[in-house]
Amino acid sequence: MILHKFKNQSDLDRAAADLIISMVRSKPNAILGMATGGTPVGLYKEIVKTYQAGLVSFAHAKTFNLDEYVGLPVTHKESYRNFMQTNLFDHIDIQAGNTHVPDGNAADVDAECRLYDKMMFEQGPVDLQLLGIGGNGHIGFNEPDEHLSRGTYKVTLKQETREANKRFFNHIDEVPTHAVTMGMGTIMQARAILLVVKGAEKAEILDRTLNGPITTQLPASLLQTHPRVIVMTDCDVNYKVSF
Ligand code: F6R
Repeated sequence: MILHKFKNQSDLDRAAADLIISMVRSKPNAILGMATGGTPVGLYKEIVKTYQAGLVSFAHAKTFNLDEYVGLPVTHKESYRNFMQTNLFDHIDIQAGNTHVPDGNAADVDAECRLYDKMMFEQGPVDLQLLGIGGNGHIGFNEPDEHLSRGTYKVTLKQETREANKRFFNHIDEVPTHAVTMGMGTIMQARAILLVVKGAEKAEILDRTLNGPITTQLPASLLQTHPRVIVMTDCDVNYKVSF
């Protein structure tokens, strides 16, 4: 892993956006793995600005999102499909059919998970996977556990994850209890990974991700085994390869 530290979040957003933009400039039909949540909002804004300035096109790019809540209509403002439309897809020239978010309302969720993996296998691998990290070390919605899933699956969200995400809802009871998420194997197949970590409150989990033991109890620690991970952060952490 390579660690890039930034003094502020706006520099971090710009650098993260620039990495994604360079990928698409050098490979117009790149496959991008996308994340939602608070972390990528600023970097998506920077991508939109660059697109609006005519400096990048997503006309041939494809995207696969990490996850989606189970049971929220796609029109719900907090569905991850809606998040992607309002924060990014509606503002760039990506073709609708080239954007993929797991269907959290599929009648047969297991079949939907297998279909998502099949599509990713046939069209992939992902060239650049964007990740945030949960306060408990989850990536996608792969929650800490005794064992992790290889492929896309339906996960029961941990209470701490629902608590962390209640800020986007009116009440904790409205936060879905389940989600569909790419599994760890699916994530680790990406050619390169960009992990963005923002806020002093995530410094400790980032330190454990970079420097601690590799354990299923901290899913992000498995990234230590991936050959091409870039971490961008404004946290005060140390790592052997940092600048
Ligand atoms: C979102 C995702 C999650 C978030 C994580 C951090 O698609 O997969 O792993 O990246 O929960 O969320 P924020 O950015 O809201 O702190």
